[in-house]
Amino acid sequence: MNLRELAERIASGSLKETLMNDFPAEAVARLQEMGVDSIEQQLEQVIQIPLDLSGPTSYELYQLFYMVSWQQLCAKLKLPAEAKVFEIAAGDTVHIPKALDAYSESASYVTANLNKALTKRFIDKTAGLNIGIRIIEDDGVRILDYVPEGTVDVVAFHHAVNDIVQTILSGIEGIDTVGSDWWSIEPQMLQAVMAYHERGELKAAVYGDFIRIVETCAKLLKPGGYMIFDNCTFEGYEDIGYSTSFHSAYIELTRQWIQEADLGLAEIRLDGYDSAHWWLILRKA
Ligand SMILES: C[S@@+](CC[C@H](N)C(=O)[O-])C[C@H]1O[C@@H](n2cnc3c(N)ncnc32)[C@H](O)[C@@H]1O
Repeated sequence: MNLRELAERIASGSLKETLMNDFPAEAVARLQEMGVDSIEQQLEQVIQIPLDLSGPTSYELYQLFYMVSWQQLCAKLKLPAEAKVFEIAAGDTVHIPKALDAYSESASYVTANLNKALTKRFIDKTAGLNIGIRIIEDDGVRILDYVPEGTVDVVAFHHAVNDIVQTILSGIEGIDTVGSDWWSIEPQMLQAVMAYHERGELKAAVYGDFIRIVETCAKLLKPGGYMIFDNCTFEGYEDIGYSTSFHSAYIELTRQWIQEADLGLAEIRLDGYDSAHWWLILRKA
């Protein structure tokens, strides 16, 4: 979303009771002491490639960027108050359930998530929300075994194409992504992605499984529903044998693969939603 607009919303104090309610008190106080201009400046410093999370309120600003962007997307796309959202591979990230809760307490949310420890943390972090939340501990490719076809308004892939690609490759490489601590195995997974990419074997290894997930999610959507991908790139990838430029191209890679698969999904562009590296918004016919 537009960073000036986000700065204005943060400075107005209107997000405090909803999206900022579990931030540390010092971070909330610090944000409230800053004026619109300095919040905007800090946002510009944080929201870049790679993300710069080194400042004292950077992590909170990064979270607000995603939560408010998703809340605003619900409004821009005119989702009904009873909107149903499916997020694949949420891990323990709760930007979208919090955004949806702030948009409408009558909405409902379901995620499919494989890693056990992250699912447990997700349950704890979403315990206080008012919206209906359902967690399915299975691969998102099997979502139609749990939720009927044609019933969901939005399918969200929040920074999830990388997780899905890593999980597919881990299956081939014999890395356990369900019972392991995700962060301990992440360097190994990222190095595997790089090795396949550098050998020119990534697409042959993951395209089929990835497109099966997208095709299943397209069936889950109502006609006119949206499939939304976002991506961001964290600092320090080169230090562990991974690549910032590879990771920041995930939106374009997703766009090309989905276009090639011809699934009846058309891209729409929205002001403030950068379609080069950060957002891909598709609408089902
Ligand atoms: C680090 S978390 C990611 C959280 C979130 N996407 C983010 O980046 O903030 C990765 C999660 O994606 C899950 N995951 C990857 N592929 C999946 C799939 N096909 N179905 C369900 N969960 C999947 C993993 O099991 C893990 O819980």
